[in-house]
Amino acid sequence: MTTKLVAVVAMASNRVIGDGEDLLWHLPGDLKRVKQLTMGCPLIMGRKTWDSIGRPLPGRASIVMTRDEQWQAQGAIRASSLDDAIAKGNAWLEEQQTGENRHILFGGGQIYELGLARCDVIEMTEVDLAPDGPAKFPEIDMTQWREVSQEEVPASGEVPSHRFIRYERVNLLISLIR
Ligand SMILES: NC(=O)c1ccc[n+]([C@@H]2O[C@H](COP(=O)([O-])OP(=O)(O)OC[C@H]3O[C@@H](n4cnc5c(N)ncnc54)[C@H](OP(=O)(O)O)[C@@H]3O)[C@@H](O)[C@H]2O)c1
Repeated sequence: MTTKLVAVVAMASNRVIGDGEDLLWHLPGDLKRVKQLTMGCPLIMGRKTWDSIGRPLPGRASIVMTRDEQWQAQGAIRASSLDDAIAKGNAWLEEQQTGENRHILFGGGQIYELGLARCDVIEMTEVDLAPDGPAKFPEIDMTQWREVSQEEVPASGEVPSHRFIRYERVNLLISLIR
């Protein structure tokens, strides 16, 4: 099976994605979008992101990267490296027999840093805030990526303005055109 790795992230204008423990905003539309984008897929996440979510997300596999060989948690599949996470995600996808071929790179900062170079697509929510926080999304090299869609969401009440942006790796586009 040919699989794709898709990074799904909500990032502030200063690239901050979290305070190390939690998210820094509440965007109801984004939660819905993330659910739609990720349903039926393995989610590859760092152990700290797993801790911040605290439970497996229904309809998806929670593949948790940790260096702790003893680590376990109910509803989580432990992985010791990105290759191990992808292999375990492939096994899970094959069991599902849905034809789904996407793995989601689900964060946080350390896992995006590790896996972005292997991603085919980035589904980004860019939030017009600039909070402090140690966890960041890496810079995107725009010689490697092309923005293929953007949808603007204006501010409303407590919800800051934000936009949904899809980036595809340039060579992925070329291979689709050919
Ligand atoms: N805005 C968003 O879209 C978004 C998405 C996800 C997360 N977040 C936020 O991001 C923050 C967490 O990010 P973070 O960078 O602090 O942590 P993280 O990436 O979630 O997890 C880091 C942990 O992953 C494990 N790990 C890292 N590299 C590894 C490797 N090469 N092999 C095996 N295991 C490895 C280690 O676990 P052990 O220490 O157990 O060995 C490490 O401590 C939270 O605030 C969360 O809310 C935001």
